[in-house]
Amino acid sequence: MIAKKVLLVGNFGVGKTSLIRRFVFNEFSEDYISTIGVRVSSKIVRLDGVQIKLLIWDVAGIKDDEKVPKAYFLGASAALYVFDLSREETYLNIKNQVEMIKELSGLSTITVVGNKKDLLTADEINILKKTIEIPVDMITSAKENDQVEDAFNILAKQSLK
Ligand code: GTP
Repeated sequence: MIAKKVLLVGNFGVGKTSLIRRFVFNEFSEDYISTIGVRVSSKIVRLDGVQIKLLIWDVAGIKDDEKVPKAYFLGASAALYVFDLSREETYLNIKNQVEMIKELSGLSTITVVGNKKDLLTADEINILKKTIEIPVDMITSAKENDQVEDAFNILAKQSLK
């Protein structure tokens, strides 16, 4: 079986850990325990008949002026950039953040995910998407288990490229 290192990055509290918990254990908690450093979980996925062991790195939240240490990106095959649809500060500077991550990681594509879909109406999400300076690949809710598997499937596909 092939193993692939994949990464979740984004600001504090956007729901990176929650997305991983939902995907790996099908669990959700309202508690917020900030990640310190990095936590790695794994899950085996099947894509077009190929089994892939995803080693999912949950990287502690970053602020706008901070850089994710370059070492986290070593050997990473794909990355999700997660922001919080309900908190503007998590997507205001998204273009620069995603560019920075591309540079640090050497990855040409980063999958962009807006999480906490359950906190907004469909209309609000549509309006918001137009104000964001880069295309949003997936809108998820870790809480309601909405599109979470699809987001990780994109990640798994990217990791094979
Ligand atoms: P750091 O480890 O600090 O970087 O945070 P994180 O990005 O891992 O966020 P985490 O998963 O810890 O979630 C932060 C808070 O948001 C928690 O209270 C979660 O319960 C909540 N949360 C996460 N995902 C969702 C969601 O889809 N909807 C709602 N309503 N709340 C969510």
